[in-house]
Amino acid sequence: MSDLKIVRTIPELRAVVAEWRRNGQSIALVPTMGALHEAHMTLMREARNRADRVVVTIFVNPTQFAAHEDLSTYPRREAQDIASLRADGIDLLFAPDESEVYPEGFATTVTVAGVSEGLCGDHRPGHFAGVATVVTKLLLQTLPDLALFGEKDYQQLQVIRTLTRDLDIPVDILGIPTVREPDGLAMSSRNVHLDPDQRALAPRLHQTMTDAAAQISAGAEIGPVCAAATEQLLAAGFGPVEYFEVRDAETLQPALDPKRPRRLLSAAWLGATRLIDNIAIQ
Ligand code: PAF
Repeated sequence: MSDLKIVRTIPELRAVVAEWRRNGQSIALVPTMGALHEAHMTLMREARNRADRVVVTIFVNPTQFAAHEDLSTYPRREAQDIASLRADGIDLLFAPDESEVYPEGFATTVTVAGVSEGLCGDHRPGHFAGVATVVTKLLLQTLPDLALFGEKDYQQLQVIRTLTRDLDIPVDILGIPTVREPDGLAMSSRNVHLDPDQRALAPRLHQTMTDAAAQISAGAEIGPVCAAATEQLLAAGFGPVEYFEVRDAETLQPALDPKRPRRLLSAAWLGATRLIDNIAIQ
């Protein structure tokens, strides 16, 4: 149990952080949209191991949801989240209202070319501009030494790495490996929307990706392997499969050079729930 402080405004956040800075303490930031689960808790424990103080933010950022997306049904359960943060020894929760983050007259958007394009960028118009804008703001509001993000949102992680480098934001960005359920399903706040049949089918995405990655690392041609995997997912009951692709692990450009690190990434729908996952190709 900790003495969790909860603040809702930027001046309050800055005052607490400034006090810690005066005491020479290091600060880690874990940005979230709440509905905290074990994967968030892993980020927080990693943050705890690396810094004197941990700031968690909970903000369901409207600008990263397209008009047709699930902003209104995105799970929100602040009281439960606060109890988890207390139990986990977190120092500070910043949970601003929308008007604190986007006051009247807000007019600036951060867009990141290259890594934002393709994959989720093609299927979620404006999503990465929304993420890049809010993460830039959270980093500048908190000015932490490091910020932690899950590798499950792999393209998001590369977008954030790129914007901090390009905008000279003095923060270390740490990607933490995807936390999985025992059957391999990547943990996600959206998994609560899966009905029992869909939940039983959901790990098939990770299994299919693992098989495809093994074939590719054994020398099979990427195109046919990904096409066959997509067919298998559709036959199993997923659909649509938005992408099932191998990319350069850093630039996210099509992976032409097998000597560079490669990543297999996929997004597939199960009923009304969109699942994403990614794994390294060894
Ligand atoms: O990964 C998320 O939960 C969100 O995209 C983030 C990074 C908190 C920005 O809203």
